[in-house]
Amino acid sequence: MLDKKIADLINTQVNKELYSAYLYLDFANYYEDEGLDGFAHWYEIQAQEERDHAMMMRKYLLDNGVRVTFEAIEKPDKEYKCHTCPLQAGLEHEQYVTSLITAIYKEAANQSDYKTMQFLDWFIKEQVEEEKNADDLLKKMKLFGGDSKGLYMLNQELASRVYTPAAALSD
Ligand code: FEO
Repeated sequence: MLDKKIADLINTQVNKELYSAYLYLDFANYYEDEGLDGFAHWYEIQAQEERDHAMMMRKYLLDNGVRVTFEAIEKPDKEYKCHTCPLQAGLEHEQYVTSLITAIYKEAANQSDYKTMQFLDWFIKEQVEEEKNADDLLKKMKLFGGDSKGLYMLNQELASRVYTPAAALSD
């Protein structure tokens, strides 16, 4: 069994990951509307990854005998006034998610809950990747997205992103 506080934190994080998927689909909606289908595609893949994160946490709870409960997912309600705005918001969101994962890890460490710490190791590493991807994308946009040719090329590049399910999902 898991400690109730840790189980609750992970259950809440399931909701946060599903919100992340929702947020990134909202970005995709914006970019699709702006005619930037490559950016939209990139965020559709990102949303799939976020759903995977939620499912990994859900499975961990279920495997440990926890009854998982779902709460309403918050509405993504931001208006984006520029093509760079969602990218900036994406980086800030990933930094926020890192802080949430770190808080769960700290609680697990406080309680010497080694199995949860080991489970969360994957997410700690993943957040390094998530922040780097968001930061790289923002930097590229600032460097190349300022003129129509650069934006076109970047849109083409982002259209080639391929979805790869997390290896941990097949465990
Ligand atoms: Fe689930 Fe983007 O971190």
